[in-house]
Amino acid sequence: MRVLLVGATGLLGTEIRRILEPQHEVITASRKGSDVSVDLSDKASIVAMFGAAGRIGAVVCVGGAAKFAPLDALGDDDYAFSLANKLMGQVNLVRCAIGHVDEGGSVTLTSGTLAQQPTVGGAAVSIVNAGVEGFARAAALELEGKLRVNVVSPGWVSETLASMGQDPSRGIAAADVARVYKRAIDEPITGQTLPAAKT
Ligand SMILES: NC(=O)c1ccc[n+]([C@@H]2O[C@H](COP(=O)([O-])OP(=O)(O)OC[C@H]3O[C@@H](n4cnc5c(N)ncnc54)[C@H](OP(=O)(O)O)[C@@H]3O)[C@@H](O)[C@H]2O)c1
Repeated sequence: MRVLLVGATGLLGTEIRRILEPQHEVITASRKGSDVSVDLSDKASIVAMFGAAGRIGAVVCVGGAAKFAPLDALGDDDYAFSLANKLMGQVNLVRCAIGHVDEGGSVTLTSGTLAQQPTVGGAAVSIVNAGVEGFARAAALELEGKLRVNVVSPGWVSETLASMGQDPSRGIAAADVARVYKRAIDEPITGQTLPAAKT
């Protein structure tokens, strides 16, 4: 199967690519350094990406950003950036995937545990992650039989904690998170948010 991987050059993207490549042809996408370039905050570039990628069987998105800052430091621009980037970027990815992904194929988006478990500094991220999950449930309902739409919700990833000088044992290994994305491609599920956090 041809799999379009958005955010392929990042931590999770690299592990997902590693786990998929023995079985699938992976087309990488990000703003720079990938097979196809895309900026999720720019819908026209998402349209162009699908045009360049050709027909695909599955899309995985681990790209997009949201601002992490205390409530009193989050400005209008920070909310606008977060909504336009990780939230509307992934919404538009699903909208633009229709017609480019084989019937019964899948789009797998990314949220994060801050959707359900708030933390200080995470207000904008919580909105975005909860929005991604809500959109995916609704879109999956309307696209039933045509396109499967699921979300993976990672907790802190060990490698990310280590890069921040924190205890990596509090997190989940990136390779274990990647296996959850593979499940969303392989299993006949839709409208689901799959947790990928340390238990
Ligand atoms: N790591 C964690 O602990 C953790 C925990 C919970 C949730 N998550 C979520 O998991 C996802 C991936 O995390 P990660 O740690 O792998 O991130 P990462 O290492 O920073 O990688 C992000 C990837 O997305 C691409 N990207 C960023 N902005 C983009 C845009 N506007 N358009 C297209 N591509 C863009 C980057 O490449 P370019 O810069 O070249 O575009 C890169 O390939 C994110 O949604 C993050 O919020 C991560």
